[in-house]
Amino acid sequence: MEQVLLAEPRGFCAGVDRAIEIVERALEKFGRPIYVRHEIVHNTHVVNDLKDRGAIFIEELSEVPPGATLVFSAHGVSQAVQREAEARGFRIFDATCPLVTKVHVEVAKLHKEGYEFIMIGHKGHPEVEGTMGQLDSGIHLVEDVADVAKVQPAQTDKLAVVTQTTLSVDDAAAITAAVKARFPNIRSPKQQDICYATQNRQDAVKLLATQVDAVVVVGSPTSSNTNRLRELAERLGVPAYMVDDASELQDAWFAGRSSVGVTAGASAPEDLVQGVVQRLKALGATAVRSLDGVRETTKFPLPKGLKIEADPA
Ligand code: F3S
Repeated sequence: MEQVLLAEPRGFCAGVDRAIEIVERALEKFGRPIYVRHEIVHNTHVVNDLKDRGAIFIEELSEVPPGATLVFSAHGVSQAVQREAEARGFRIFDATCPLVTKVHVEVAKLHKEGYEFIMIGHKGHPEVEGTMGQLDSGIHLVEDVADVAKVQPAQTDKLAVVTQTTLSVDDAAAITAAVKARFPNIRSPKQQDICYATQNRQDAVKLLATQVDAVVVVGSPTSSNTNRLRELAERLGVPAYMVDDASELQDAWFAGRSSVGVTAGASAPEDLVQGVVQRLKALGATAVRSLDGVRETTKFPLPKGLKIEADPA
């Protein structure tokens, strides 16, 4: 192997940065333990690190003692979970990514106007459960083009489409086209729901894949956007491997390859990427270079109650 090319941008997005900082600041301000509903972000290393520092990750609110501090994960929660957490009297901090909240707000607003929804997303993903759980009924999930023929909305005059934020941009476009073919009057969001970070990381992998013989994607198997990056590289004809960290790399993947690309999902820390680069250097890579890409400047404010004096207003 001669060179390693790094995708740009890669790794943490603004929503992940904010979610992790919320847990860190809650630990600082209120002390351990801080309860977190679901993995704060889908990354094993991030979760284990926060566990060591005093976070307790739970799935059911019944696992949280009265009076405790609870953080909702970046993926968002349903109205039922929100109501139950309030009724149980926890001190709540909401680390839902503001770009997921934006979808929730849109759903609530259009629902009041009488809309039903087609949601494009992956069944069982917490973000999908949270978004669908904004309403008691009237959101129909489609996972692929074949599902589009099967949905049965109660009416078709007022229909709107929403999507999970971390889908494959290309798959979502194909499914949206099928939805529009079946329901020509369906309303789409002003701006697509797939977030800037997902879009940018997929664009970066497309560029990367044209220049390398193999791609390593750093991230955890539970992470939707990370899986999409690996799939995308593979669809472009390049063998692609997802690893949580350098220890999972297998030498055989790189035998006879002269150029290896590395990227990371939106929840994977940069030090893990650097660990992978070090390992690839040990396997013989002599040059490491970052590709040009979009520079991200998005930053989301922290919730009130977790700001510290040094923070900008
Ligand atoms: Fe938010 Fe997109 Fe990151 S929805 S958490 S900015 S991957």
